[in-house]
Amino acid sequence: MTAETLHISAPPRATIHPGWVRVCHWINALAILVMIGSGWQVYNASPLFGFSFPSTITIGGWLAGALLWHFAAMWVLVINGLVYVTLGIVTGRFRRKLFPVGPRALFADIRAAATFKLSHDDLSHYNAVQKVLYLGIILTGVVIVASGLSIWKPVQFQELTAFFGGYDTARYVHFAAMAAIVAFLVVHVSLALVVPKSLRAMITGR
Ligand code: HEM
Repeated sequence: MTAETLHISAPPRATIHPGWVRVCHWINALAILVMIGSGWQVYNASPLFGFSFPSTITIGGWLAGALLWHFAAMWVLVINGLVYVTLGIVTGRFRRKLFPVGPRALFADIRAAATFKLSHDDLSHYNAVQKVLYLGIILTGVVIVASGLSIWKPVQFQELTAFFGGYDTARYVHFAAMAAIVAFLVVHVSLALVVPKSLRAMITGR
C-alpha cells in the first residue's frame, strides 16, 4: 500500500512570513527607494555637505518634481509603516521574533558570523544580529519620519522641531537617518542574495 492510497501527504511547509508581513515589506521597500531617490534630488537644491548626488540616481528631475515624489511616497511609507508596526505588536510577532535580544547573544552571533559558522537553516528564527538590525531599522524609520515632519511643517510641529534642536539640526538628523537606511540596505540586500532561500521566503511566505 502506498502513501497515496492511504491519502497520506507531506505536511504543508510552515509559513515563515505571513501575508501581511510580505505585503508591508515590499510596499515599504518600494516607498523607501522612491523616498531616497527623490530625497537626494531635494538635497541637491541646497546641499548640507560639499557634494551633490549624481542626477542619474535621483528621482524627480528638479526640486519641485522631487518634492512631489517625496510627498506622495511619504503617505505610502507612513500608512504602510503604521499598519506593519500595529500588526507586529498586536499579533505578538515583534515579541516572538525580535525579542529577547541581549549583548551576549549578539556578540556570540557576530563571532559566529565572522567565522562563517552562523547557521541559516532555520529561517523561522532570527539570530541576534538580525534582531538588532531589524529593531534598529524600525527605530530609524520612526526617526526619519519624525525629523521629516519637523522640516516639512516646522510651525505646525514646532515642539517636534524643537525636540530635534531646531530646523537646521533636524535636517542633519534626517540626512543621518537616510544614510543609516542606505547602509542597512547594502548589508540587508547583500545578505538576502547570499541566502536566496530567505528571499524566496519573503516572496512566497514559505
Ligand atoms: C529593496 C530590497 C530589499 C530586499 C531584497 C529585502 C529582503 C528581505 C528578506 C529576504 C527578508 C527576510 C530575511 C530574513 O529571513 O531575515 C527581509 C526582512 C526584513 N526586511 Fe527587507 N528587503 C529589502 C528592503 C527593505 C527595506 C527598505 C527595509 C526597511 C527600511 C527592510 C526591512 C526589513 C525588515 C524589518 C525585515 C524583517 C521583517 C519581519 O520579520 O517582520 N527591507 N527583507
